[in-house]
Amino acid sequence: MGCYGVFSKFSRRGKFFALLIFSLMVVAWIATYSGDTVKRTAALPTLTQNALTKYKLKVNFEALTSSPSDLNAAQKHPCPDTSPLLKGSVNLTFPALKLKDVEMENPDVSRGEFQPPNCTARQSVAILIPHRNREKHLLYLLHHLHPFLQRQQLHYAIYIIQQTSDATFNRAKLLNIGYLEALKDFNWDCFVFHDVDLVPENDHNLYICDKHPKHLVVGRNVTGYKLRYKGYFGGVTALSREQFLKVNGFSNTYWGWGGEDDDLRIRVQLQKMEILRPPADVARYTMVFHKRDSGNQINKDRMKLLAQTPKVWRTDGLNSCSYKTVSLERLPLYVNVTVDVGKPER
Ligand SMILES: *[C@@H]1O[C@H](CO)[C@@H](O)[C@H](O)[C@H]1NC(C)=O
Ligand SMILES: *[C@@H]1O[C@H](CO)[C@@H](O)[C@H](O)[C@H]1NC(C)=O
Ligand SMILES: *[C@@H]1O[C@H](CO)[C@@H](O)[C@H](O)[C@H]1NC(C)=O
Ligand SMILES: *[C@@H]1O[C@H](CO)[C@@H](O)[C@H](O)[C@H]1NC(C)=O
Repeated sequence: MGCYGVFSKFSRRGKFFALLIFSLMVVAWIATYSGDTVKRTAALPTLTQNALTKYKLKVNFEALTSSPSDLNAAQKHPCPDTSPLLKGSVNLTFPALKLKDVEMENPDVSRGEFQPPNCTARQSVAILIPHRNREKHLLYLLHHLHPFLQRQQLHYAIYIIQQTSDATFNRAKLLNIGYLEALKDFNWDCFVFHDVDLVPENDHNLYICDKHPKHLVVGRNVTGYKLRYKGYFGGVTALSREQFLKVNGFSNTYWGWGGEDDDLRIRVQLQKMEILRPPADVARYTMVFHKRDSGNQINKDRMKLLAQTPKVWRTDGLNSCSYKTVSLERLPLYVNVTVDVGKPER
């Protein structure tokens, strides 16, 4: 009992203390809690404002960095292996044309360049066209080539490389210059070296590069659609950026007509590369007829030069191509590069 009595006495006092402590705790808790609540309520608007500011910043950031076309690009998938837009063989017509007409026909080309609107092109291709005094041929080629390349769903740009007026024509050097100038704009995958007077008839003749250099002209209407001679590598060829670099481009020493295309074939063969050609029924061109103009006479030295190629290709080509850019205009349908290529050395 005594024990109980002590306990119960103690217990009563203990109860009192316990109650006191509990009450104090409650008061303290209420104090802390309300303090906290006050702090929290005070803090809340700040937090919310921060969150809103951040949200707004994010929205503004997106608005600044993504134009609608970028959003489009994000959704784009690769273009299919075979474009659904191809038409196959067409009968080409050569109506009287003005540059304005051809511009109106190609509203999606700007500054000579085009990207397929709904898919990512498989290759980016620079079309290089050496040019002199052939305005009419150029119009015909642009009229047919722009829609042709768009149907192939390529990312492409057309470069016209034009020589200043009276110097002897040097097709090969103009093409080297086209390659060097085009690479200043974009890291093109593939280069198509294209004569101005050849118009492709069948859009299954794809203007893309392959594992080996490609010769795209098997037949022309002027030669009954037969290969001019075995090993012919002229007219229209397609080499990747690396393939063209590997052969050191074209020789710069062919002035006047002929030889430079055979020289390129020798360079390709020296690198143990093959020459690929599309099927003859696809690789067909119409040659818009013309007479050979002055300043582009047959190059009588061409056989001598061809014999030198294996010895000189390393030092005569892209790495020795010196020229002066006279002007570079970005017109709606092409980039017009006008250059001074110099004169023959002798
Ligand atoms: C192209 O013209 C030829 C001869 O006139 C004709 O036989 C052929 O059907 C035409 N092809 C097309 C795709 O219109
Ligand atoms: C691209 O997509 C748009 C909208 O879906 C369509 O109207 C247009 O014809 C397409 N263009 C091509 C070239 O497929
Ligand atoms: C080739 O086609 C062009 C353009 O239609 C024409 O002017 C030329 O006479 C044709 N040549 C031959 C040999 O058919
Ligand atoms: C290219 O530019 C030169 C220099 O401005 C000009 O004389 C020439 O007519 C232009 N050529 C083409 C095909 O636009």
